Amino acid sequence: MALLEIKNLVKNYGEVTALNGIDLSVKKGEVVVILGPSGCGKSTLLRCINGLEEIKSGELTLQNYGKLGKDISWVEVRQHIGMVFQSYELFSHMSVIDNILLGPMKVQKRKREEVEKQADELLKRVGLYDRKNAYPRELSGGQKQRIAIVRSLCMNPEIMLFDEVTAALDPEMVREVLDVILNLAKEGMTMLIVTHEMGFARQVADRIVFMDKGEIIEQDIPEYFFTNPKTDRAKAFLNILNYESRGTDYEQNI
Ligand SMILES: Nc1ncnc2c1ncn2[C@@H]1O[C@H](COP(=O)(O)OP(=O)(O)OP(=O)(O)O)[C@@H](O)[C@H]1O
Ligand SMILES: [Mg+2]
Repeated sequence: MALLEIKNLVKNYGEVTALNGIDLSVKKGEVVVILGPSGCGKSTLLRCINGLEEIKSGELTLQNYGKLGKDISWVEVRQHIGMVFQSYELFSHMSVIDNILLGPMKVQKRKREEVEKQADELLKRVGLYDRKNAYPRELSGGQKQRIAIVRSLCMNPEIMLFDEVTAALDPEMVREVLDVILNLAKEGMTMLIVTHEMGFARQVADRIVFMDKGEIIEQDIPEYFFTNPKTDRAKAFLNILNYESRGTDYEQNI
């Protein structure tokens, strides 16, 4: 069985059908990158998986726990499925370490000592241990985003969702954040990633899922998707991107 199974997911915003029958299963350890034009429903899909949007119909099932929002509450789901967005959303009045400890201690009722040990390890891994007692305003965008990732990881999620986590960053900070995600992939973290960094997508993904107008219309391993897309819509999407992003750092490194 898949770790996460999404069946016939439909989401409306009033008249707008943002997701129109999404079927998607994600295996443990798999990295799925979701691509598609603006407004096709990528963020909505991630938000539905995390219970941030009420869905119209469909079923989401997490292995060993059951149906999301039914067998397990959304509060519990968010402990198993972590999410990091474009904006960092750290609490500005709290230090880095207090931001990280908040969820594990308050929601998971874990002891400070134990969580702090884990937080220290994670901070070291993302190269920010020395900023442990800093405040968010003292950090760069890339640093804040790495802290946001650590904060989410400290809940020991089974799955991580990333929604354009580098979109608001200056180019020189993009790489340091993408490297953290690449390392998570190497360590076997199951992830769903929305990104506009095509070189990164190609490098990190086990599978590319291409969406348009609220539907998944094509999916394949990156090698095939990027070199031989099957649908005209995917071809058009890649053509535009090739034109826009020619020569970015990651492209050059592949
Ligand atoms: N809160 C909302 N209220 C009403 N409509 C919304 C809301 N959020 C999203 N939508 C609509 O749902 C559709 C899917 O939006 P979504 O944000 O998921 O797209 P996206 O693929 O993430 O786009 P982008 O690449 O620009 O981030 C769009 O038509 C959008 O206008
Ligand atoms: Mg979006």
